[in-house]
Order: sequence, then structure tokens, then C-alpha cells
Amino acid sequence: MTTHTQVAIIGAGPSGLLLSQILHLNGIDSIVLERKTRAYVEGRVRAGIMEQGAVDMMRQANAAERLDRECLTHDGIEIALDGRRQRISFQDLVGTPVTVYGQAEMTKDLAIVRLTAGGDIRYEATDVSLHGLETDRPRVRFVKDGAAEEITADFVAGCDGFHGVSRHSIPADKLVTFERVYPFAWLGMMAEVPPPSDELIYARHERGFALCSMRSRTRSRHYIQVSPDEPLEDWSEDRIWQEIAIRIGDPRFEILETGPLIEKSLTPMRSFVCETMRFGRLFLAGDAAHIVPPTGAKGLNLAAGDIHYLSEGLIEFYAGGQTAKLDRYAAQALARVWKAQRFSWWMTSLLHNFDAAEGFQNRIHRAELEYTLSSRAAQTALAENYVGLPY
Ligand code: APR
Ligand code: PHB
Repeated sequence: MTTHTQVAIIGAGPSGLLLSQILHLNGIDSIVLERKTRAYVEGRVRAGIMEQGAVDMMRQANAAERLDRECLTHDGIEIALDGRRQRISFQDLVGTPVTVYGQAEMTKDLAIVRLTAGGDIRYEATDVSLHGLETDRPRVRFVKDGAAEEITADFVAGCDGFHGVSRHSIPADKLVTFERVYPFAWLGMMAEVPPPSDELIYARHERGFALCSMRSRTRSRHYIQVSPDEPLEDWSEDRIWQEIAIRIGDPRFEILETGPLIEKSLTPMRSFVCETMRFGRLFLAGDAAHIVPPTGAKGLNLAAGDIHYLSEGLIEFYAGGQTAKLDRYAAQALARVWKAQRFSWWMTSLLHNFDAAEGFQNRIHRAELEYTLSSRAAQTALAENYVGLPY
């Protein structure tokens, strides 16, 4: 059976759902194809820091009611160097806060508003393939409930993440990719215990990086640097808590509350950019086009920026047939992506121990962190990038 829609969206993560909802509010119809179940998508544990721009996008999508009620607003972070903690005040330096709200919650909120408004989200749509991307009537084929189906559309939005089909539908000679894989990973854990501080603590220590984050005032989300091939089973709860305490400078557990873990996982660290983010009528957005190391908390926020530019372009097109904003989408989005890539790489380099063979690099990174902690100008640059550069 063939259906037509204006925009076929591949992926029902934050990018795809945010785009679908904003298009809907502007009278543009879309169909979202998601290969996993709704429960699987909404059960994925992801980061939880939103720039003001991403919060504004949720409000623009009429999806921010629970976010506004439950989020935490942070005016700064703490950076610990060898156990000595120092606060970086975003409010004092750049006058802008960040918002703490789990990406899984954002995805749940967007799915509810979209489905409540009668949105067409097809979960468990498998074997998606894209065709005719260089024509003005691209086609998307997929299988749903065992039946082969086809959608024709004016445009296709590839919001299907790093492992999706969209980027791989662009001919190899039409794109260039850039990648850096880091020699470490993050062991992440969740525990129903209050975080050790009102704000996030990023720690550089000779034993490695640690981050104390949170999902609420009673739910902690912490990470420690480990080797990329670290066996998770080697890390008992006690060992993880001990390591976090040492790395943030709290060896006697004066501020760090411990408790049973409700989640434990390994996150590899990479930087990745796909140039271009457009091929014919296909537009890539979010993780489908770029991956950042989570240190700068930019993944979701870059996706929100892409959706800001892409939705503006589609709204302009359907309002009067103009393509100026669509034509500049890839260049505009990539300019912001590369600035966030630089910041994420910089913050990752400053806070992590690279291999011992990288002695000179490790000394340079440590010196840069010491300089940053001693310089208002350097802290202002950190704050400006962390809270989010303008769209
Ligand atoms: N067909 C249909 N759906 C697919 C396919 C496919 N071939 N491949 C992947 N998907 C779906 C995934 O199941 C996932 O739900 O696309 C969605 C992509 O969502 P994310 O990976 O979350 O990517 P994005 O929406 O761009 O999110 C950007 O938010 O979720 C965080 O960590 C993520 O920082 C990133 C940001
Ligand atoms: C998180 O809360 O999961 C988180 C916060 C900040 C980061 C990365 C992850 O830089």
C-alpha cells in the first residue's frame, strides 16, 4: 500500500519527534518510521543537560509542560582537579543557565503530544529503505506487521541516529566523514540517591575522569573513565562508588551518598561528522549526521539546533515555495556542529587521562585546565560554549 506525506521522518528519537511536532504545529504533515518499539526508545538511558535553545524548542513544540514542572535549573558546574573543586558560575560569566532534564523524558513528552494530536508514528517499522532521493517525489519502503509498505513524500528527514539507514543512503562520493575515536570509554551508572552537589561535578584525576550528574534531587547519574574494552563485570558497586569518591576528592564520602545501582553501562567515546547533511530531498539531523563525546553534553542540543534550522526551511518552503533556508541548511547546521565538536573535544581532552605514552599531551591538557581555572576569560569561553552558542 502506498501513502503520501509531505515529510517522511526516519527515527522517533528526540530529533524525529521534535521535527514532526513542530511541522504539525505549522500545518505540515509527516509520518515517522521507527524500527524499535516505543518502550525501547523511551527506555534508553541518555544524557540530561539541555541548552536554553533546546528548552525553547520544546516550548515551541508545546511539549514543555512537564519539563517546566520537573526540570532543574543549574547556574554553574564544579570542576575538580586532583580533588580540589572549583565552581564555574555560568550566571556570573554569561548570564545563562542550563536545564537538567533527561533526554528519555523529553522523548516521552514529545511522543505523548504527537500521538495525542493524532500524529502518525509507526513503531516497529523495519527494513526501511530510501529511494528517488534526487527526484521531487522520494519514496520510503518499509515492513510493518509483516506487510511491505511504501510512502511517497516531498522530503525525507533522516533522524535515525548514528546506526541508521539515512546517512548510508547517500552515495559514497557525495559525502565526506570525519571521525576521532578516543582511547577511553565512560562507565555510567544510575542510583536512587541524592547527588553529592547541587550542580554537576566534572573531575580530572590521575586515576581518570569522573562526572557526578543527576536526573533529579534524589536520582544520581555518575560516570567514570575506563578503558574502551573494560569488562563491566570487573566493576562491582563498591568499586564504582570508591572510584568516584577518590576522583572527585571525597575519599571519606563526606558528600557522596552511595546506594544500589539501578543501571550500569559502557559508553564509547567518539567524535564524528558527516559532511554533507543533505542529499537531494534527504536531510540528515541529529546523531544521523554527527556524534560528540558526551563530555560537553552537546548530543541532544546539536540535534535541537539541526531541527531548528530544518523546520525553518520546511516551513518556508510550504509557506511559499522558497528554498533559501533549505538550501543553506547543511552549511548552517555544520557550522554550529563543528563549533560544538571543538568544544566537546576540548573539554574531553582537558578532563581525561590519555595513554601514558601521551605524556606531553597529558601535561598540556592539565596545564590548560589549570589555566582555565585561574582565568576569568578562559572560564567565560567555557561557560559560553557549555550553555550553548546561539542558533
Ligand atoms: N529505521 C527506522 N528507525 C531507525 C533506523 C531505521 N533503519 N535506524 C535507527 N532508527 C531509530 C532508532 O531506533 C532511534 O530511536 O532512529 C532513532 C534515532 O534516535 P537517536 O539515536 O536518539 O538520535 P537523535 O534523535 O538524533 O537524538 C540525538 O539525543 O537520544 C539522544 O544520545 C542521543 O544525543 C543524541 C540526541
Ligand atoms: C548526564 O547527566 O547524563 C550528563 C551530564 C553532562 C554530561 C554528560 C552526561 O557532560
